Amino acid sequence: MCGIVGVVGSRNATDILMQGLEKLEYRGYDSAGIFVTGKNKKSKLVKSVGRIETLREKIGIDVAGTTGIGHTRWATHGKPTEDNAHPHASTSGRFVLVHNGVIENFVELHNEYLTDDIFKGQTDTEIAVHLIALFVEKDGLTTLDAFKKALGLIQGSYAFALMDANEPDTIYVAKNKSPLLIGLGDGYNMVCSDAMAMIRETSEFMEIHDQELVILKNDSVLVTDYAGNKIERDSYTAELDLSDIGKGTYPFYMLKEIDEQPTVMRHLISTYADANGKMKVAPEIVESVQKADRIYIIAAGTSYNAGFGAKTMLEELTNTPVELGLASEWGYDMPLLSAHPFFIFLTQSGETADSRQVLVKVNELGLPSLTITNVPGSTLSREATYTLLIGAGPEIAVASTKAYTGQIATLAFLAKAVGEAEGNTKAFEFDLVTELSLVAQSIEATLSEKEKIGEIVAKNLLTTRNAFYIGRKQDYFVAMEASLKLKEISYVQCEGFAAGELKHGTISLIEKGTPVIALISNNEKVALHTRGNVMETVARGASAIIIAEDGASRADDDIIVNAVHPYLSAISMIIPTQLIAYETSFQRGLDVDKPRNLAKAVTVE
Ligand code: F6R
Repeated sequence: MCGIVGVVGSRNATDILMQGLEKLEYRGYDSAGIFVTGKNKKSKLVKSVGRIETLREKIGIDVAGTTGIGHTRWATHGKPTEDNAHPHASTSGRFVLVHNGVIENFVELHNEYLTDDIFKGQTDTEIAVHLIALFVEKDGLTTLDAFKKALGLIQGSYAFALMDANEPDTIYVAKNKSPLLIGLGDGYNMVCSDAMAMIRETSEFMEIHDQELVILKNDSVLVTDYAGNKIERDSYTAELDLSDIGKGTYPFYMLKEIDEQPTVMRHLISTYADANGKMKVAPEIVESVQKADRIYIIAAGTSYNAGFGAKTMLEELTNTPVELGLASEWGYDMPLLSAHPFFIFLTQSGETADSRQVLVKVNELGLPSLTITNVPGSTLSREATYTLLIGAGPEIAVASTKAYTGQIATLAFLAKAVGEAEGNTKAFEFDLVTELSLVAQSIEATLSEKEKIGEIVAKNLLTTRNAFYIGRKQDYFVAMEASLKLKEISYVQCEGFAAGELKHGTISLIEKGTPVIALISNNEKVALHTRGNVMETVARGASAIIIAEDGASRADDDIIVNAVHPYLSAISMIIPTQLIAYETSFQRGLDVDKPRNLAKAVTVE
């Protein structure tokens, strides 16, 4: 994972690096560091364990210069210590680099090339800087040739930014699998893991593809392959808006983002439907899905759960079977595919390495793909055949909320557009604009119940070590996401379970006081069955909390959600569970936005 920034030119490098790292903190916040230098300036390397604000406190006014690199870390190899923090320097201190990714053969390279154990820490990254130093200082190669030689030996994923203290006007950059962009300024140039990190400085960016190398100076950007052949690459303008990433008066971004969901729904209506309610999904996307005999949705975590939330609707409206794939499992061998597959990548960040590795395979097979993402210009957006944007605005809290509901809603527009093109009556009858407006209202109604939800949490979830979400059919899919949300930010071990499956083994975990939260949407086929399953857990001591949709609700249910179209119930039913997760984390005094061990964009496999 991790975030990388670099700048070379005439500006205050420390300032640019620190601003950039703050924007990249979502990629990891175990430790951070910067290296800054400049003509006639002493080089400085500063690192600290913990958040960027800790690094900022450590940086004095003498850490100044015009060129530098910086890093925020999500630990893969080695604990979050100062020695393991990036940038890593060679023993002589001449070479310094930052890395995002995993060097898989670092042990083998160490054994083959380094006679002494000169590593300061335990990271895989250190091998890169020591190899480069070895090739320059012992073998007499130039820095560029040494970098190329090291890249030829290294296996795995990487985005590197390398500096040689003897060349304070140059940053060497290379990438394979891990994301990296070049930002183009006037008299200075930058490198960054994503455009958001440098959008304050520029909106002009240049992509770097896998196995490309860049020599970055204040007035030039030279892109080559590893053999040194020059590559011409146009820049593009990133359409990002810095204005909406503050958290205003909210204590945490997560609460703000939960509250934004009605707006996200309305924004999607205006994006994907015209004033007459006609779908505005690009015809080439619709046609490509129409040709498919099976839709494969590939995603991770919350995005994977969103795929399940939309599965039934997609199948019924497009008349095409939908298969879900966990990206981290699908990266190995592609399973037997149908004759005409269509791939949908659901990804808030557009940078998830697990999803991208599947997309790389899909592209190798020449198959059509669509990325549904919240981040325009992200890697998966650039590399898929088509993109649909969620347009939910930056999601900063690590726990995803508005991206989940936005993804399901975006898929609804796609499903209806394809269904109508297919002449499917169900698609014409599904008045998505009205139904999604009702969803927005239902969300608003649930949001007005925050106090009540806070009380439910205080009564049931403040000290428990474990909990269950249960539901059937669509509610089961929502239960999967609800439990992920609760466990990731409150550290309560929570399982999302198919209500009917509990009695086949897992019910033995129910003890006196175990919270069992049942989701009961307005589906008469399953509602009573789920209620029966709740009673089975209560009979064994569980504390039941019932979240029911109007129509299937009873007066004494704990939370009643306004009824919406069954295709969209995963959106409205998730809202109380997001608030339960938020309240549990908040009332336990935890850092809601930045839970331990996690990062927002997971760019390692
Ligand atoms: C959980 C969460 C993660 C992400 C997952 C995929 O709240 O946010 O589970 O959903 O890491 O990330 P994206 O959607 O960016 O591909």
